[in-house]
Amino acid sequence: MFDLTGKSAFVTGGASGIGQAIAVALAKQGADVAIADLPNASFEETTSRIIQLDRKCLNVKMDVRDKEQREEGISYVEKEFSGIDILVNNAGINRPAPGLEVTEENWDMTYEINVKAGFFIAQRVAPGMIKKGWGRVIFISSQSGLVGIPGQPVYCSAKGAVVQLVRTLGLEWAKFGVTVNSIAPTFIRTKLTEKRLEEKEFRDFVLGKIPSGKLAEVEDVANAAVFLASNESGMVNCHTLRVDGGWTAW
Ligand SMILES: NC(=O)c1ccc[n+]([C@@H]2O[C@H](COP(=O)([O-])OP(=O)(O)OC[C@H]3O[C@@H](n4cnc5c(N)ncnc54)[C@H](O)[C@@H]3O)[C@@H](O)[C@H]2O)c1
Repeated sequence: MFDLTGKSAFVTGGASGIGQAIAVALAKQGADVAIADLPNASFEETTSRIIQLDRKCLNVKMDVRDKEQREEGISYVEKEFSGIDILVNNAGINRPAPGLEVTEENWDMTYEINVKAGFFIAQRVAPGMIKKGWGRVIFISSQSGLVGIPGQPVYCSAKGAVVQLVRTLGLEWAKFGVTVNSIAPTFIRTKLTEKRLEEKEFRDFVLGKIPSGKLAEVEDVANAAVFLASNESGMVNCHTLRVDGGWTAW
């Protein structure tokens, strides 16, 4: 099950954190993987882990907000891999600020990276999948897209937009063999969260909301991504898969 031999994947934000774990997990299942990340990101760790698995790995330096860099990067990968079968829109940021303090710059940047870029990458990659009659588009949303969390109204609403995006794109592309889903993880210690999780009050709040009393790990999200990328998930579409240990159940 979940054999991805012969498939090629494109993972944004693949240089670190959740994106790195997803890229490596897809390679473990047999996929060749392109990792796209900011030009100043370090690609070495993800790349060497994928190469050790005897899979091909391409590095794509791009800011997902930049239309020309997106076009150049996606065209390069499509040419080298003869198409992209699995797209993981994972690149994301969170700049927490209470509603009374949010700036327009914060709003625009959060939406540009978390919502707009993922949408236009999917729009650019999907025609190749449609031509092949098979494709998997996976967005990384968040439990914050399903429940409110004080202090992060911009992030919560942007991730909520992703939940709606996959519902709608999945409806449009299902007839071509392309599914569109998202994953909604709870808190995981990565570069994105490590500072906030050091604050005792915040950490206690988070752990108090997860019934098992522990954070998720990047591999928990990667396992869900492998499932959504596989043939076996063909009837799972327009769905947001919660990897939240139960946070959103109460
Ligand atoms: N860590 C968590 O607790 C958590 C929980 C739920 C959802 N998420 C989501 O998971 C995804 C990955 O987050 P993470 O925790 O691994 O964070 P991270 O900061 O470790 O990784 C994010 C990656 O995205 C890249 N990136 C950021 N802006 C970019 C841009 N403009 N262009 C290209 N690449 C860019 C970064 O360089 C980095 O490699 C994000 O979408 C995040 O919102 C994280």
